[in-house]
Amino acid sequence: MQTLTQTLTITRPDDWHLHLRDGAALAAVLPDTARRFARAIVMPNLKPPVTTVAMAAAYRERIIAALSAGMNAPPPDRPKAGQANNMEPHSGEQPSPPREGRPGGVGHFTPLMTLYLTDNMPAAEIDAVKASGFVHGIKLYPAGATTNSDAGVSDLKKCAATLARMEQLGVPLLVHGEVTDPAVDIFDREAVFIDTVLMPLLRDFPALKVVLEHITTRDGIEFVRDSGVNVAGTLTAHHLLLNRNAIFAGGIRPHNYCLPVLKRESHRQALVAAAISGNPKFFLGTDSAPHGQSTKEAACGCAGCYTAHAGIELYAEAFEAVGALDKLEGFASFYGADYYGLPRNTDRITLLREAAAVPASLAYLDGDRLVPLRAGESVAWRLA
Ligand code: NCD
Ligand code: ZN
Repeated sequence: MQTLTQTLTITRPDDWHLHLRDGAALAAVLPDTARRFARAIVMPNLKPPVTTVAMAAAYRERIIAALSAGMNAPPPDRPKAGQANNMEPHSGEQPSPPREGRPGGVGHFTPLMTLYLTDNMPAAEIDAVKASGFVHGIKLYPAGATTNSDAGVSDLKKCAATLARMEQLGVPLLVHGEVTDPAVDIFDREAVFIDTVLMPLLRDFPALKVVLEHITTRDGIEFVRDSGVNVAGTLTAHHLLLNRNAIFAGGIRPHNYCLPVLKRESHRQALVAAAISGNPKFFLGTDSAPHGQSTKEAACGCAGCYTAHAGIELYAEAFEAVGALDKLEGFASFYGADYYGLPRNTDRITLLREAAAVPASLAYLDGDRLVPLRAGESVAWRLA
């Protein structure tokens, strides 16, 4: 009997929510994303945060430099980018020319930059964003909500003029949707944020483009579904694949801890239903968020799951599990570009349905490794 490898070919996907970090960490993780995705919305929660177009331009240059350097010298335990996706490795420090149809792109990857909203971002910065052509959104982190969010917004009322300008110019607000009040149960923080922050925000700015990032609850799905076309949401692979039991399976599992935290199974099922619904309001955003092993496996471990090593493969698993592989391309490759008003990608990737082993850890920083999701186990799909 002949066994055929099952393959899945789709338009090259984009990642609409990604943490790339900076410096050596950036160099270590960027090839994983660039191998799979054409573009990614790059989160601005560096230290200090990226709060101006000028800072975003400099960060973008560092990403582009890391990309071209990384094509020549990948970390020792990762495959060479050139081998993994048949790109011609090139020599020297010169970035490769932009590919056709990807203005500003380098090789296979274009970083889409964001700014970090603070209480005192001037409205004029939004005009600079619009004029830049490379900043695609403004990120709202409620102060203290998550990793590097100390400089976040304390009260959205302070941002009224800036939000009004965003609404006028069509610049999306990308939202970490959790209240930070320690009196609110951690599993309720997304739902409470929707009621107490997002609903009033959209009453004040009804045409504001809002992306509710990394939705984790049925409440978040219903809010996005029932709002206008200006409101969309991203879904991570780990929230589609795991429920909160994964944080406590036989002991505490710091590598399954992220924010917003995993929720109960009925919420996971609501996320999966939205992802496979074909509703263009829901699209792919990995929220891949690397932290060194020593900072995850600690008495007070950092929030964030690293998923970029299997950034599209994990979604293929989640969609296959419910018999909806035919819905993956729209979710991963079309709807996000449409929402952001960018052209859809034209090249394609192929996934093979073959188990791919995930190493116990990956190279990251000098003296600190990176433990990816599924470490020591396998993912059911691999990139051809
Ligand atoms: C993110 C990080 O580490 O930067 N962590 C996470 O758990 N997702 C920040 C964030 O998106 O909340
Ligand atoms: Zn994030």
